[in-house]
Amino acid sequence: MRILVSGGAGFIGSNLVRRLLSEGHEVIVLDNLLRGNKLDKDSFEKIKFIRGDVRDFATVSEAMKNCDAVYHFAAVLGVDIVADHPVETMDVEVIGTRNMVEAAAANNIKYFLYASTSGIYSHSAIVKSALSEDVLVDPRTSYAMAKRYNEIYLAAHHKERGLNVISLRFFNVYGHNQDNRMVVPRFFEQAIQDEEITVFGTGNQTRDFTYIDDTVEACVRLLGISGAHIINIANEKEWNITTLAEKIIEITKSKSKINYIESPAKRYDYEVERRVGSSDKLKELVNYKPATELADGLQKIYEINYL
Ligand SMILES: NC(=O)c1ccc[n+]([C@@H]2O[C@H](COP(=O)([O-])OP(=O)(O)OC[C@H]3O[C@@H](n4cnc5c(N)ncnc54)[C@H](O)[C@@H]3O)[C@@H](O)[C@H]2O)c1
Repeated sequence: MRILVSGGAGFIGSNLVRRLLSEGHEVIVLDNLLRGNKLDKDSFEKIKFIRGDVRDFATVSEAMKNCDAVYHFAAVLGVDIVADHPVETMDVEVIGTRNMVEAAAANNIKYFLYASTSGIYSHSAIVKSALSEDVLVDPRTSYAMAKRYNEIYLAAHHKERGLNVISLRFFNVYGHNQDNRMVVPRFFEQAIQDEEITVFGTGNQTRDFTYIDDTVEACVRLLGISGAHIINIANEKEWNITTLAEKIIEITKSKSKINYIESPAKRYDYEVERRVGSSDKLKELVNYKPATELADGLQKIYEINYL
């Protein structure tokens, strides 16, 4: 297929692009390089790269010409960045996605896969069992609200125009090419330098860490599915932040100590006590569930980045 990946120079996008190329797809990347270029040299030589903004319809429309499928991953993210730039965050989501969908309709795109987030579960994450896609969501931040809006907007496009759409609810993806806006690379950096590892709050808050290769595997398997779907891509295991820090200290043989600090007020709406997802629906659709153990995923990051 000829596939457009918006945000393809980012963390998840760059890993997805490498995989799509290895499967023989033709890949076009549209990215404004807000976070630099994480594509490796080999991938970069094989793709068509368009430096541009998803908020610009002409650019989006041109990039999508003759494509069969779209992964729409361009976004502004990272708790502190979103908290400081809520308007840009929402504009990139809402205007960008509208442009992508209009261009998809005009270009007869067969499959449209969109990066949503487990962040939309927010405080409904405080549950006994893993979150399934049908629980009541609770988006509170500019980022989560815009992602939820887009999920519904895309389903509407399926209903009225027959576009095949999937909203992928990613759960704390971690792995190669991630930068220190996110907790895993930040802890690695601190551990490698034997600096204090800074944890916001008690460290008891949990997350469902999903390894990048598993996330990409799910994204690739979901290409070609018809209809309108919302799908969790979760590892189904709950780890607290203190344990994450301890595992990274162990793997890096660091002398770092954990320092618990009060969370700044602007992070409040993002602070969720528990989060763990169910990938049952993913399994039902494509017979696959992410399964990389956290310790193994962290070890791979260590080997790729620091050995
Ligand atoms: N990483 C996670 O754990 C996670 C969790 C849930 C959802 N997501 C979603 O997955 C997608 C990919 O996330 P990521 O972790 O790779 O983030 P990332 O920041 O590494 O990648 C996003 C890319 O989008 C590009 N971009 C930003 N604004 C743009 C614009 N206006 N026009 C064109 N390109 C633009 C950036 O330059 C960057 O390369 C995003 O939609 C994100 O919201 C990620």
